[in-house]
Amino acid sequence: PPGLAGRHFLKELDFDAEEFRSLIALAAELKAAKRAGGEARRLVGRNIALIFEKTSTRTRCAFEVAAADQGATTTYLDPAGSQMGHKESVKDTARVLGRMFDAIEYRGDSQEKVEEFAAHAGVPVYNGLTDDWHPTQMLADILTMTEHADRPLAELAFAYLGDARFNMGNSYLITGALLGMDVRIVAPEAYWPAEPVIARARLLAEQSGARLTLTEEVAEGVRGADFVATDVWVSMGEPKEVWDERILALRPYAVTMDVLRATGKPAVKFLHCLPAFHDLGTKIGREIHERHGLSSLEVTDEVFESAHSVVFDEAENRMHTIKAVLVATLGGR
Ligand code: CP
Ligand code: NVA
Repeated sequence: PPGLAGRHFLKELDFDAEEFRSLIALAAELKAAKRAGGEARRLVGRNIALIFEKTSTRTRCAFEVAAADQGATTTYLDPAGSQMGHKESVKDTARVLGRMFDAIEYRGDSQEKVEEFAAHAGVPVYNGLTDDWHPTQMLADILTMTEHADRPLAELAFAYLGDARFNMGNSYLITGALLGMDVRIVAPEAYWPAEPVIARARLLAEQSGARLTLTEEVAEGVRGADFVATDVWVSMGEPKEVWDERILALRPYAVTMDVLRATGKPAVKFLHCLPAFHDLGTKIGREIHERHGLSSLEVTDEVFESAHSVVFDEAENRMHTIKAVLVATLGGR
């Protein structure tokens, strides 16, 4: 897409609706080309740094495979693997890595730090998740919705249940507002996005025609939804102590078969950025089972394993959409 060369991707609103849609279209093209065995390598000779201050499975692997498919190299810096923050400032690290790499992915805690890094790097910086936003995840989710929908995005209704004050809730509200969708945030009011995020979304909706609903009522919130999504109830970086209050507050917002039925849409699809607590396959899941007797949290295993669930398409699409970002920002120069 023209105009994206050299650009950062730090939050969804770094791109306008048209640019956002052009990235989705490019991702779909790249996905089809890879499947057909005819992918053109547009990033040969490019070097990309991947900084992770929090752990990752999908985002890291998506960047590594996308870069490799396109002929670029990657260097992974794990939470303990760089001097940044310990012996060297964010600003200095940004200037050093910017001299060596053509682009830098950065997963951190605070959005401010990633923005500061981008301000000094001199090369495109991509937000691989912060406490506030998960923009590359939004591209994957929107691609997945377009693949599974029979109508244009602006005619689709989408409900997010759970903790909406963090990256996923914020990102869904803003992305849906940007793209003119019918977006419902279904959560206790204390778990809604912060007021400035809601205000921004309402402004965007005035231009895009999006319909925004924030509600505590599950049945009302999901009625007519084509997609239902959720996320973990405790995010990376939060202390273990919050589990008890989170479970108490969010239990009624778990995605169950009853919730899917309440949409009134037999073909409703379920999304989750993953990782998910839907069974006892994790250490934390087993601890919670011992303490609370629950064998799933934000989504039941029945929903997760059902034909409604498109979570692995969504995970695969992280790679195709991140590849689109790399090609659009680095491939044309
Ligand atoms: N969905 C997502 O960002 O997953 P990772 O934390 O594994 O990268
Ligand atoms: N809200 C989650 C998303 C993980 C991809 C977290 O920040 O841990």
